[in-house]
Amino acid sequence: MNIIFAAGESSPFVKTGGLADVIWGLSKALVRRGEKVSVFLPFYRKGKEKVRDIYKLIDSFDVAQGWRMTHCNIIFDQKEGVDFYFVECDQYFGRDGIYGFEDDGERFAFFQLAVAKAIIHLNLHPDIIHVHDWQAALIPLLCAHAGMRFRSVLTIHNPAFQGYLNPASLGDLLNLPVVYYSDGLLRFNNMVSMLKGGITTVDAVTTVSLTHAQELLNDKTGFNGIGNIIKFRQSDMFGIVNGLDYEEFDPSKDTHIAKNYSLSDYKVGKKVNKEALLAAFNFKEPEADVPVFGLVSRLTSQKGIDRVLRIIPDIIKEDAKLVVLGQGEWDIEQKLKYMASRYPQNIGLFLGYNDNLAHLIYAGSDFFLMPSKFEPCGLGQIIAMHYGTLPIVSKVGGLNDTVHSYYDSHDGADGFAFANWDENCFDYSISYVSEMFKKKKLNPLIKTAMAEDFSWDKQVDGYLDLYAKLLKR
Ligand code: GLC
Repeated sequence: MNIIFAAGESSPFVKTGGLADVIWGLSKALVRRGEKVSVFLPFYRKGKEKVRDIYKLIDSFDVAQGWRMTHCNIIFDQKEGVDFYFVECDQYFGRDGIYGFEDDGERFAFFQLAVAKAIIHLNLHPDIIHVHDWQAALIPLLCAHAGMRFRSVLTIHNPAFQGYLNPASLGDLLNLPVVYYSDGLLRFNNMVSMLKGGITTVDAVTTVSLTHAQELLNDKTGFNGIGNIIKFRQSDMFGIVNGLDYEEFDPSKDTHIAKNYSLSDYKVGKKVNKEALLAAFNFKEPEADVPVFGLVSRLTSQKGIDRVLRIIPDIIKEDAKLVVLGQGEWDIEQKLKYMASRYPQNIGLFLGYNDNLAHLIYAGSDFFLMPSKFEPCGLGQIIAMHYGTLPIVSKVGGLNDTVHSYYDSHDGADGFAFANWDENCFDYSISYVSEMFKKKKLNPLIKTAMAEDFSWDKQVDGYLDLYAKLLKR
């Protein structure tokens, strides 16, 4: 199969979140299965230095947007068998930062037109065009508009972002006739939504877990009502749980951590990493072994950080430690800063990104907190389990599909999950799991967690089956 991916970001070039890991992990897994994968990305200022292996200017053309002509280059690179095509246009992408600009709608409208044009120009003839989130959602429609034949998939990683444009700019920025708005294909809350346009025009829509697929289909009001639109596509809607790139996250080979370990020697390995973690956060050596709760996350309300603030009294009561790494919303950061300065012997905080420290938190913590309000899939809990760190999660989306909660059944449990509406259960979990920790009752759960397999080599089957099914239509 000849498969084209398009997205706003991908490792190993640019990453702001789990989307980047998925594009990279899934495309490599498809290549390992013998498929041809080409990934289209914007050429941001950040990440340019990583495009080095085979740097090639492969195409150059003008993109018409309404009355404007904007020039762009297509840069080619190849990594581990995956072909990468970068859309270079400094006016839109040569900035410090990836998303969050006033003109994001215009920037990604341009990106999508440029990708559609490059696919035709470069004679790529894809069997499947697989686009991710709103930043790429309209590419299948734009290609179909240009007379191409192919099958298409849209994966929704975060339904909270719908990619709005003013209706008046449909012709101006996307070269599409107004009928796409007036007949409702792109019209959403009286705006043009690129995500909706993707949902209504691709052959299949997926999201990154089964539970989140059900949540989207059943939620009429959430995410500005996008569930109502997805409902129209119910028979073409699928949930496929993300895989993990075990090459990057492997406690037996990880170069970021203090000591490598695997299932056979995790007790020693985790102990050494725990000491290193406590030292990294400048905690005084505790007299007894105390539970350490780790959190690596964007610090946003989606991730339930307000819930984490709620459990701080319980952490203090148990004389446990909480270590937090991330950055995000200003008020959440301020509250965490205050707590960390007030309880320096219980709360460690690092605001920002730090790969080394993230890996050390996965390896050295006893528990990993992920009390998200919604979570299409989530990767942190999967990484934590692989490092023998037990996740404490809300029962939403991918968290529900990947963690087997001890509260539901002791057999086969590898973590703890509480109902999304039941915040008290999350509070209660801190003392509950601390008690289990003291009584040394966690080893069976740790062993189960470490033995779980969420590798892309396994999870890729879901996509291969879907592509095959679409090609038979
Ligand atoms: C988004 C979602 C997260 C998911 C990731 C990759 O960041 O919020 O749940 O794991 O995309 O699919």
